Amino acid sequence: MPPVTIHPVAIQAFGLTRRFGTMTAVDRLDLAVPAGCIFGFLGPNGAGKTTTLKMLTGLMMPSEGRAVVAGLDVANERLALKARIGVVPEQLGLYERLSLREHLELVGRLHGLPAATIERRSAALLERMDLADKAGSLVVDGSTGMRKKLSLACALLPDPQVLFLDEPFEGVDPVSTRAIKDLLRALVDERGVTVFFSTHMMELVERLCDRAAIIQNGRLVAEGGLADLRAAAGLEATATLENVFLALVGADKPSSAALSWLDE
Ligand SMILES: Nc1ncnc2c1ncn2[C@@H]1O[C@H](COP(=O)(O)OP(=O)(O)OP(=O)(O)O)[C@@H](O)[C@H]1O
Ligand SMILES: [Mg+2]
Repeated sequence: MPPVTIHPVAIQAFGLTRRFGTMTAVDRLDLAVPAGCIFGFLGPNGAGKTTTLKMLTGLMMPSEGRAVVAGLDVANERLALKARIGVVPEQLGLYERLSLREHLELVGRLHGLPAATIERRSAALLERMDLADKAGSLVVDGSTGMRKKLSLACALLPDPQVLFLDEPFEGVDPVSTRAIKDLLRALVDERGVTVFFSTHMMELVERLCDRAAIIQNGRLVAEGGLADLRAAAGLEATATLENVFLALVGADKPSSAALSWLDE
């Protein structure tokens, strides 16, 4: 097998745009995410994060613009792309009546992996996610955290170069959050994987991510390391990412709405 080429820029978007009718959900987005980093994708509800993730992973066609991921044009090389990326979507879409082990086996077979590889990787992933004792349980009986971790294990099974996750920490307890965070960091540090995820958890991004982007109304507001984001917001070096985010999306003023309706 020829050696796999790791491209120095793992994710690129060029004027990526998606319209739904007259509404523009993602508006001429330009992005360049270096390989081997953890990238946080932030924005208020409805900002266009999920739509962007869908376009970057080939699940939705852009109205305009293009994306290149792991060296492949997303629109024209979708099949090859599937072998290089892992995706944990917002709606997990798991097969409810399978056990965790069966689920991983099905995903492995769909990717054409040899049985021995599926077995070895599944066991290692379940162990790593603290799910080894639940390998025989049905997905339908699992908690939110268990489902997120299974979805992540499925995404990692084919050993992707680039991993996309849409709100991977939503509804996940601190123990599983720690397990997922440690795993993402290890994937980047030990295997050079690029991780791109959307979230609303500012503190987590501040601690975990190497870089982040903030979008609002489909437009890129700022991108870079924390220092770059602070500079874009015009804030001092002690500002938290939450301060930066609120300033950049124009929500840093306290609400003046009175609570007088409570007295009526
Ligand atoms: N299939 C669709 N048809 C019509 N409008 C859509 C569709 N998908 C998304 N939108 C709209 O596009 C905008 C961006 O949605 P998107 O789901 O990308 O936001 P988001 O940043 O992921 O939000 P959240 O933080 O709530 O997950 C929203 O106004 C949404 O209503
Ligand atoms: Mg979303």
